[in-house]
Amino acid sequence: MFKILVVDDDADLRLSVSSALSENHYLVDQAKDGEESINRVRAGYYDLVLLDVNMPKFSGIEALKEIKAHDPSIIVIILTAFSNIRDAVAATKEGAYNYLEKPIKAENLVYLVDKALRAKHMIRDMTLSAPVFKLPNGTDFIGQSTEMKRIFSVIDKLSRVDTAVLIRGESGTGKELVAQALHFNSPRKDNRFVTINCSAIPENLIESEFFGHEKGAFTGADSRKIGKFQYADGGTLFLDEIGDISSGMQVKLLRALQEKKFTPIGSNREAEVNLRIVAATNRNLEEMIRKNYFREDLFYRLNVLPIQLPPLRERKNDIEVLAKYFIEKFNQQYHKNITHISIEAMEVIKLHSWPGNIRELENVIEHAFVIETTPAITISSLPDSLAHLSRAKAKGTILNFERLQVDPFKSSTSSPSTLQMNAAINPSAGFKLDINRLDFQANKEEFEKQFLMSALKKFKGRINQTALHANIPKKTLLRKLEKYRINARDYF
Ligand SMILES: Nc1ncnc2c1ncn2[C@@H]1O[C@H](COP(=O)(O)OP(=O)(O)OP(=O)(O)O)[C@@H](O)[C@H]1O
Ligand SMILES: [Mg+2]
Repeated sequence: MFKILVVDDDADLRLSVSSALSENHYLVDQAKDGEESINRVRAGYYDLVLLDVNMPKFSGIEALKEIKAHDPSIIVIILTAFSNIRDAVAATKEGAYNYLEKPIKAENLVYLVDKALRAKHMIRDMTLSAPVFKLPNGTDFIGQSTEMKRIFSVIDKLSRVDTAVLIRGESGTGKELVAQALHFNSPRKDNRFVTINCSAIPENLIESEFFGHEKGAFTGADSRKIGKFQYADGGTLFLDEIGDISSGMQVKLLRALQEKKFTPIGSNREAEVNLRIVAATNRNLEEMIRKNYFREDLFYRLNVLPIQLPPLRERKNDIEVLAKYFIEKFNQQYHKNITHISIEAMEVIKLHSWPGNIRELENVIEHAFVIETTPAITISSLPDSLAHLSRAKAKGTILNFERLQVDPFKSSTSSPSTLQMNAAINPSAGFKLDINRLDFQANKEEFEKQFLMSALKKFKGRINQTALHANIPKKTLLRKLEKYRINARDYF
């Protein structure tokens, strides 16, 4: 049964809208302002939200953005007075499905809600019967390289079984797409695909996020909440950034996975679920196990079937098709008509090492869309992080850069042009490549360590300042300091 949230500060309107929907067999909850609506959406699960525009605390538009950020699949219909129609139109650009003008007529309301929810079903069905790697959120899973073709065939096989899968790969390589592809090609596809982003949830809320809680289970638990384990029953639970969960939560998760049972906080009854678990991480779990940060037994429980996504620089064959795909996507989004990428810009795009992988490529193409006024993406529309490759080319240093990419340790450090490129890639002057140790990971860690120590020194050990100026999320900074056993107090 579909569940709807009606949000309006006008109690009479809330009541009349809610009863019209209840009579039509929808489950209805109410919220009296934007803030309450966001809290409810975060705590419960709704297929559709009816949202007033002018409300105290958060406006409808602000609430809409929060709701869509929390779960883009929630349909939002705006309720608006005629005088606010322009806001309602703006809301449709922010992802609202449609709007209804006040006074609300019950038959219009029910008609639009029925239509929207039918469409939600249809979109799902259509995409599910479409070619294998079309995902229900409209994303296509692209790849023509041998590496990606192999991944596609692995996904095809693994989607037919129910065993846990652990997806590994650098940030931006498409781990979440793999998880979705596994679900939407599996026999569980008509049930839910539910994500828990383990790094985004504060430690004190994570257990409730996983397993739910009873009303009054702890301070702030003013209503009962279903955990994602239960919500995903019958479907797939995607544990994203699994390397970031605390050791306490690792124990509880392991037990729930082993026994397929769990106890919501404050409850005395165990719940049983039928789930497929897919987890993802860009962290080195083996190393974390060695350092006792990650439980080995949990690792083996999750890592039954591993999928390793190669970074984009190791599947350069995909760059062109992906770039074209993003151009088509942004042509639609920005109502533009970019038709091609100049040969020179494409050369630079292929030369770049894409540390941020596909997400970085997508951002670069979007950046070009924003600034380009001609029908072509040219060098001048690329961000500086890439455009410098073309300047380097003009200076004749590009060959060294290519060599550096293939085998940095072959280039003699005394070659001036190589040094110049090293400086371009790595602005931290203090870092020296350990050329005797042919190990990417070790060198990367050494760089990170020295970078963090210099940044802490500069900002006198102040974490917030360091995070801000070094452009590193605070959480990541703290994690890395812990990893390298660097004590910020030493820099006060
Ligand atoms: N093969 C692909 N085809 C089309 N789009 C892709 C592909 N791979 C990744 N993307 C897009 O790139 C972006 C990053 O992908 P995704 O979020 O799945 O990466 P991730 O590996 O989960 O990264 P992180 O570790 O940072 O969470 C998304 O917008 C995704 O849609
Ligand atoms: Mg991800």
